[in-house]
Amino acid sequence: MIVSTTTASHPRDTAVCSPPHSPAEIMEAVRFRESSLSRLLVAYICSGLLFMLLPGTFLGVWNLLQISGSQSAGFIAPAWLQAHGHAQVFGWVGSFILGIGFYSIPRFTAARKPAFCAAWVCWVMWTVGVASRWIANVSAWQWRLLLPVSATLELAAFLIFFRAVSRHRPENSCGNGLPSWVWVVISASMGLFAALTVNLWVAVKLARGGTGPAFPHVLDQHYLTLVAWGFLVPFVWGFSAKWMSVFLGLKPARPKLLFTALAMSFVGIALTFAGFGGPATGLFVAGAILATAALRMFEPAQREPKTRGVHTSFPYFVRSAYAWLLLASLLGVGAALWDHSGGFWGASRHALTVGFIAIMVLSVGQRILPAFSGMRLLWSTKLMFAALTLLWIGCALRVPTELLAYQGYANWAWHVVPLSAVFELAGITAFAVNIFGTFILEPSHAHQEPLVVPSIGELDTETVAKPSRAAARCIRFGAQGGS
Ligand code: HEM
Repeated sequence: MIVSTTTASHPRDTAVCSPPHSPAEIMEAVRFRESSLSRLLVAYICSGLLFMLLPGTFLGVWNLLQISGSQSAGFIAPAWLQAHGHAQVFGWVGSFILGIGFYSIPRFTAARKPAFCAAWVCWVMWTVGVASRWIANVSAWQWRLLLPVSATLELAAFLIFFRAVSRHRPENSCGNGLPSWVWVVISASMGLFAALTVNLWVAVKLARGGTGPAFPHVLDQHYLTLVAWGFLVPFVWGFSAKWMSVFLGLKPARPKLLFTALAMSFVGIALTFAGFGGPATGLFVAGAILATAALRMFEPAQREPKTRGVHTSFPYFVRSAYAWLLLASLLGVGAALWDHSGGFWGASRHALTVGFIAIMVLSVGQRILPAFSGMRLLWSTKLMFAALTLLWIGCALRVPTELLAYQGYANWAWHVVPLSAVFELAGITAFAVNIFGTFILEPSHAHQEPLVVPSIGELDTETVAKPSRAAARCIRFGAQGGS
């Protein structure tokens, strides 16, 4: 069973800390709470994986095969492209963020029944919202109704999540204010809120007077900039600031530089919506460089990386994701200057969504999800390596060939583009198999004996491998009344 030390620093929030309980009652309360939390997390992760596989990646591959077949991106229905993008960004990455967010809230770990109910309601609304958007876009069935309904459900689900998160007071804040990484994550949440609000506004506009479920092209491009630089990228920066000094042994992040990067990103978004998309791309480059420097991604590590339980290549893939981020931002500048048929924009977007976001999710997801889902070990570290390598090769094939082919610079590149999709599909599928394998085939140590889950900062698979020691800590913790 798992007791978060995060929880331990908030005695008033925990079942463990009600003084009159016997050790057996404490264990029972903890057991109940942890199995409920794990079930919740597994639901969010499984729905995220399903969105990633079918509505997201398979549709993306299908779109790409169509584009390669006709040697033009112009013949594909925009609604299908947008269905793919929405499923990946909100269905996959969004579900993961909400699930991990709920799991990580200390107050939430008090296992109050209403809090769990809200989290489950949020899951249902989010999942139904994203699924109905996909159906509306792909089939055009009842799209005037489904579009605003799905956007409303998504926004409402986010507000439930935000209400739960905003009550959270992280450990060690000690009256000194929130740690810098929390501010970055809060900013990313604001970016997500803004994206969902724009999404609802456009959905209502289309439902009232549009001719189909697809966002108009220019508005869609602005909206994608908001989604990428206001939501996805800042979330990864925030979690990198929290986790990477531990996982990769990096020196602590430089908060001021990170805030400056964040400011660049948000000003860039404002400029984009104001019609100054060209200068905005320069700000995104500056933001990416500053954030990478702030996180000290390419500086020598000060400690050994923690790779027990995952593949030893983990730190290299995380660093390579930041190289993809830099390339994506530079390609954005190229797009503002030279794009005439979607090649630069597509390559930039792909370097960002697959090279940066997906590589980070595959790396960090396989690092943390097994422990979060009931103190399991990752099913296969070799499969983790295979998944990341395949996705990385697919992205490395896709980014240059998309640019060359779409822009008409090299005809041979059209033959490589579909191959890139096969690699990416294989990588994504291997990741999903590994996570499902972990949930289904790996035993949960949480059911054997009580464990203390370290706060994120201390997270180390060693704790999973040595349950007895962790159990001893838990018992000590219980005996001290949660101090
Ligand atoms: C893994 C294999 C993937 C394939 C084969 C794929 C394929 C595509 C294709 C063909 C497009 C149309 C524009 C273009 O040609 O560039 C596209 C657009 C897009 N993709 Fe992907 N993609 C993949 C992964 C991802 C991931 C992981 C994400 C996000 C996390 C993502 C997000 C998007 C977005 C937001 C768009 C823009 C949609 C729009 O126009 O509104 N894709 N993708």
